[in-house]
Amino acid sequence: MTESLQDIARRLVAPGKGILAADESSSTIKKRFDSIQLESTADARRDYREMLFSADEAMRNHVSGVILFDETIRQQAKDGRALVELITATGAIPGIKVDQGAKPLALHPGETVTEGLDGLRERLVEYHKLGARFAKWRAVITIGENLPTASALSANAHGLARYAALCQENGIVPIVEPEVLMDNANATHTIETCHKVTEETLRVVFEELERARVDLAGIILKPNMVVPGKDSGQKADPSEVAERTVAVFRATVPAAVPGIAFLSGGQSDTLATEHLSRINAIGDLPWGITFSYGRALQAAALKAWGGKAENVAAAQRAFLHRCRMNGLAALGQWNAELESEVA
Ligand code: 13P
Repeated sequence: MTESLQDIARRLVAPGKGILAADESSSTIKKRFDSIQLESTADARRDYREMLFSADEAMRNHVSGVILFDETIRQQAKDGRALVELITATGAIPGIKVDQGAKPLALHPGETVTEGLDGLRERLVEYHKLGARFAKWRAVITIGENLPTASALSANAHGLARYAALCQENGIVPIVEPEVLMDNANATHTIETCHKVTEETLRVVFEELERARVDLAGIILKPNMVVPGKDSGQKADPSEVAERTVAVFRATVPAAVPGIAFLSGGQSDTLATEHLSRINAIGDLPWGITFSYGRALQAAALKAWGGKAENVAAAQRAFLHRCRMNGLAALGQWNAELESEVA
């Protein structure tokens, strides 16, 4: 029997579990590998992802779904099994990044619009055959002087809504990701500005989703947290981040949405975990709230791995630790002392 969109969405935000974003594009994974002085070949990318997906305890206990890049959904592990099979064997759901990147928005210096709608229906049909049951599309909103503009907000929200509708038509749960950046060049904005812009962004996104007839019970929202820009000099207390983030959701996210899974966005590993835990500790919220982290789940594992087969076990331990910490944060049960109990 085919699983309904609602069931898939609910599974993605099962208590204590979250999503591993391993969908770095070729240029992004190259940057990550540069940091460990490793050449980005197809085999190196395969070995790295295989290391993560075969971290059995981490995957089984803490990971509900994995977002893949086009290359990865077609790759085989060393033993010949598809990487997708490694993921499903742990009980996690394979997902796929389907956007084709944020491109400069014409006549809007400093702003982008995410492309990838052309041919998307056909790509979704193929991805479904390859095993994907959810997808991701990332729209990027930049804060700056007189930015974001209303037209950038609406163009990006419109793209997200068209994408989400196409996903649902094809039995795939759309992760709707409007990221208000915290780490753009010269990100001097305050937490107050992030609060205002995130609220406006989500308001426009939900207007477009409803207009496009997207079933809100069959999506996952992937937002940023409300934090100050990285160059603001402001240091926000984690409780303020949690309160402001939840206030924005209460104002904009309908209760029909089953789940919210955050991006980490350039926060440090432990701060991303602490914020998630504080948000969940507020309690009594209508949505399942968890992580969909890329950097904040992988950074320690990538460093421990360093591109060497003999480091796989150490890298998997580092990955397990971050997965455990974030799994607890998804329940609102993380605390700083747990960080020192490295497995
Ligand atoms: P980060 O957690 O590294 O921000 O990545 C999540 C993601 O998928 C961004 O699109």
